[in-house]
Amino acid sequence: MRTIIEPFRIKSVEPLHHTTPEERERYLQQAGYNLFLIEARHILIDLLTDSGTGAMSTGQWAALMRGDESYAGSESFFRLQKTVRDLTGLRHVIPTHQGRAAERILFTVLCKPGCVVPSNTHFDTTRANIEFTGARAVDLPIPEAADTQARLDFKGNMDVAALQSLLASEAAANVPLVMLTITNNSGGGQPVSMANIEAVKRVCSRHGVPLYLDACRFAENAWFIRLREPGYADWTPKQIAQKMFSFADGCTFSAKKDAIANIGGFLCSNDERLAQQETNLLILTEGFPTYGGLAGRDLDAIAVGLEEVLDPDYLHYRIVSTGYLGRHIADCGVPIVEPPGGHAIYIDAERMLPHIPKHRFPAQALAVELYRHAGIRSVEIGSVMFGEAARHELLRLAIPRRVYTQSHIDYVVEAILEVNARKQAIRGMEIVDAPPFLRHFSARFRQL
Ligand code: F0G
Repeated sequence: MRTIIEPFRIKSVEPLHHTTPEERERYLQQAGYNLFLIEARHILIDLLTDSGTGAMSTGQWAALMRGDESYAGSESFFRLQKTVRDLTGLRHVIPTHQGRAAERILFTVLCKPGCVVPSNTHFDTTRANIEFTGARAVDLPIPEAADTQARLDFKGNMDVAALQSLLASEAAANVPLVMLTITNNSGGGQPVSMANIEAVKRVCSRHGVPLYLDACRFAENAWFIRLREPGYADWTPKQIAQKMFSFADGCTFSAKKDAIANIGGFLCSNDERLAQQETNLLILTEGFPTYGGLAGRDLDAIAVGLEEVLDPDYLHYRIVSTGYLGRHIADCGVPIVEPPGGHAIYIDAERMLPHIPKHRFPAQALAVELYRHAGIRSVEIGSVMFGEAARHELLRLAIPRRVYTQSHIDYVVEAILEVNARKQAIRGMEIVDAPPFLRHFSARFRQL
């Protein structure tokens, strides 16, 4: 059979509400043309993020009832610890309320002013948490990643030669760790190859620097390795994931992605002394080490999600369905970051709307138009988010896990193609009011 189906059926449904064009125009005006400021009930299809928006399974809902809410020594923690140790091979497992809490604790312990932390590409919270300590976050993607149209199997890879020269030029004490984000979210959801992880680890070992994975989409990355990297076609996703983690000295993890939970995260390492320092900080703001800012039931849902996400049927469907959206719009002339990533499709708005200059925010204008036309929420990843540092003007369509069916995605495809057909009429935007940092969450705009 050629038809690929969603590998689940639906037991509990959540109604969607249609809005009229007039209502959407009003909501846009009230929100200052910032989609973060529109109430979720006024959104028909929400592709803002794949983070915390996944649908839990019957297994995860059942696990919630098993949750042990003891303040100390909860059984739920030991179940999570066992699952994470088995997957990552890392001994110390510190739960946190989400990924950025793990980042904050890790960098507070390891970084100080003058330090440098290289990555293939840091996610924005990771960069912000590094910079908050006074250290410098450096992105070293492969040069080909700059071209949105280049079709590479592992476009999320790190530039190993650039890492080598950075480590050779910096005093070892100034580089407390190297990070690899898998998959590379800010780089288009592109995977990192096993060979690249191994090569990065070799360079790190030569310089005595630990390697950390920002591993929140580890299962999607493992599936791409199985599909694209010679030698892995017969491996299970779990075996591939275990091998990926075998090169890591630690990881940060947002359970809101590939643990298909609505909240949660963890921080792992093999370093006893470091784990002790991290635990001390954890108690200060997150909680006791066996719950780390989460309820016991959350820990159980994460443990079950980490197993479910490695199901080959799920991963096959997941990667094919993201690619389905990408191919259907790209083959009709909408420029996307090629090839399609694991969790999202990124439209290259600079290419699609060449009549709107960068300082008039083409991707924000496109996000507004897609909501106005069809009630779809996406997110700008360009000059609104990064200011002058933006390398591209992208519109991200992130796909929540197990939430939307093919007909929802067909609706999204149709809407994008209709917007594309009259793209000349789309006008740029101007910021009328913005806070000093993280302005994309609350800036207000005017349509020109
Ligand atoms: N690392 C990566 C690669 C991420 O994509 C995210 C979150 C985080 C860390 C932080 O995790 O949200 O649990 O604190 N990404 C979301 C997104 C928000 O929409 O891409 P968190």
